Amino acid sequence: MIGKNTKENCIELIGKLRREQILTKEEYLYLIQNRDECAGELKEQAGEVRDEVYGKRIFIRGLIEFTNYCRNDCIYCGIRRGNHRAERFRLSAEEIISCADAGYELGFRTFVLQGGEDPFFTDEKMCAIIRALKERHPDCAVTLSLGERSDESYRSMREAGADRYLLRHETASKELYGKLHPAEQSLDNRIRCLHVLREMGYQIGAGFMVSPPFQTEEMLAEEMHFLKELNPDMCGIGPFIPHKDTPFAGEAAGTVELTLFMLGLIRLTLPRVLLPATTALGTIHPRGREMGVEFGANVVMPNLSPAAVRGKYLLYDNKICTGDEAAQCIECMKTRMRTTGCEIVVDRGDSLVR
Ligand code: 5AD
Ligand code: FES
Repeated sequence: MIGKNTKENCIELIGKLRREQILTKEEYLYLIQNRDECAGELKEQAGEVRDEVYGKRIFIRGLIEFTNYCRNDCIYCGIRRGNHRAERFRLSAEEIISCADAGYELGFRTFVLQGGEDPFFTDEKMCAIIRALKERHPDCAVTLSLGERSDESYRSMREAGADRYLLRHETASKELYGKLHPAEQSLDNRIRCLHVLREMGYQIGAGFMVSPPFQTEEMLAEEMHFLKELNPDMCGIGPFIPHKDTPFAGEAAGTVELTLFMLGLIRLTLPRVLLPATTALGTIHPRGREMGVEFGANVVMPNLSPAAVRGKYLLYDNKICTGDEAAQCIECMKTRMRTTGCEIVVDRGDSLVR
């Protein structure tokens, strides 16, 4: 990068990334550091690549947050076991199934069962729920997001019919992982779980937070190399947002600009990845999810949980969509997506990665 101005260098690097689908860490870092100069260019290229691979079709996932009990103590998370102010809840199997039934009528063809690491939901209980969902809705995908469990547990749930597993790695940096989690939680095991899940035939989703305390731009550049190597089917990223009853209460949230920039970099690095515009992104900016789609995202995950418990699954402050019924939420989302020129479709939305 010689003899040109910063903006020209950035545009050249974005062109190279689109062609080669990888940059050096230094090149990613240069783009991240100079993102103000080239966010418009990245948005344009990332939108085009999304269109080439997936078109203007936006996949929806019906998120069922079914327990906020958690045995872990992630420093940033509002449902950490150390937060004694969290009002805990569990949905019954019947409640979970009726959320999915209602979601089916609204056009959802993927259900995401998400919860804290709650030992109450044994393999036996999870398998019974998975079997019931697959029996009632054989044309739907069941995605699990239950954190780290044993290999045996993952195997039995896969045999019961689960199709996909979301397990954000949170950060690829050992150093940062150690600052965001107590010593009993390990990045090595988390990454091992992702590999085990893929071996068992799950489509896997990884992901990280943008700008939690202690994250550097170098670490964000390294995320891109980690993702390239893992090559997940899906990658969920969102800004860190402080929660008032955690040790990070007074910390700054991640910005919409940096989160959008990272979405664009991911789309160019992994053209076929499923990329959600997350609720956290919608929380820090009223048009966050729409802008995420403009930067190459192609998935949104509206909440299907009963309105009565929605306000309790609070990982961070000011979470949106906590009061709405599922039917309202999907109508709202359809309108929002249309403002980007994209359209929500009735489809399982399987990964094209493999
Ligand atoms: N801010 C933003 N995202 C958070 N998550 C947990 N706590 C927070 C927070 N305070 C994310 C984690 C987790 C996902 C379910 O939510 O990345 O994997
Ligand atoms: Fe949930 Fe708008 S998307 S209310």
